[in-house]
Amino acid sequence: MWCDGSVTPLPPTTDLTELATQLALGAGELIRIHRHDHFAIDTKSTPTDVVTEVDRAVEAHIRAELARQRPDDAVVGEEAGDREGTSGVRWFVDPIDGTVNFVLGLPQYAVSIAAELDGRIVAGCVHNPISGELFHASLGGGAFAGDERLGGPRQVPLARAVVGTGFGYDAGRRARQVAVVAALLPRIGDIRRIGSAALDLCSVAAGRLDAYFEVGLNSWDWSAGVLIASEAGATVSGLRGRPPSGTMTAVAGPGLALELFALLEELNADDV
Ligand code: IPD
Ligand code: CA
Repeated sequence: MWCDGSVTPLPPTTDLTELATQLALGAGELIRIHRHDHFAIDTKSTPTDVVTEVDRAVEAHIRAELARQRPDDAVVGEEAGDREGTSGVRWFVDPIDGTVNFVLGLPQYAVSIAAELDGRIVAGCVHNPISGELFHASLGGGAFAGDERLGGPRQVPLARAVVGTGFGYDAGRRARQVAVVAALLPRIGDIRRIGSAALDLCSVAAGRLDAYFEVGLNSWDWSAGVLIASEAGATVSGLRGRPPSGTMTAVAGPGLALELFALLEELNADDV
């Protein structure tokens, strides 16, 4: 018999979204409690790539909860690496997306948690613990901020589009990213660099940004936000017919996507 009860049934994706939401709210509470502490700050890949004691403690908290509630799942986390699993579910955890803003006390940072089921992102939650906003989505179920369904970006021509982006931590790559932005800026409405890829993607979902693109993101930065943006109706891409990935994450309203993505391709924005 193919189903004799010995196989753990896969969870409905809404259960995964509910768990992601519960974990993000708990993590947000921890961040709020500790945000004014005198926490230690270390650097990672470059002197501008920082991690705090709070990032590490919050990720440890989320991972402990996942291990307790879903011990067979795999986990990829920004600060503590990968844990293998056997269930077909893999979690992507960024305890604080926008760590530089967190250190400075700028209120644009978020907990970002996504779940992948058999290779597809099916659940995502992004929570800004300072504003209290909770963005969430399940594959095929729409995107929400709290209870409010998100409708994606407004219809706007390229020349008026306000486009979010971000820069990596490597100085050479930054110089090339800025060259792309210099060529792009005269052809669009404006640029925003908010400092949290997860919140940028949710801002596209909520119609606060018309589009967003960035190269070099990690899976924990983009997984939840890309699902939320796409469930809100935005077009998501990795350019040149590829799906979004760490190589290139590009998101725009359907009316803008074709033209903006073609321009980004022309500027080789994905080759920096
Ligand atoms: C960073 C933020 C930033 C983006 C960087 C990311 P972190 O994540 O999302 O907006 O431009 O590429 O690395 O380091 O704060 O988790
Ligand atoms: Ca982070």
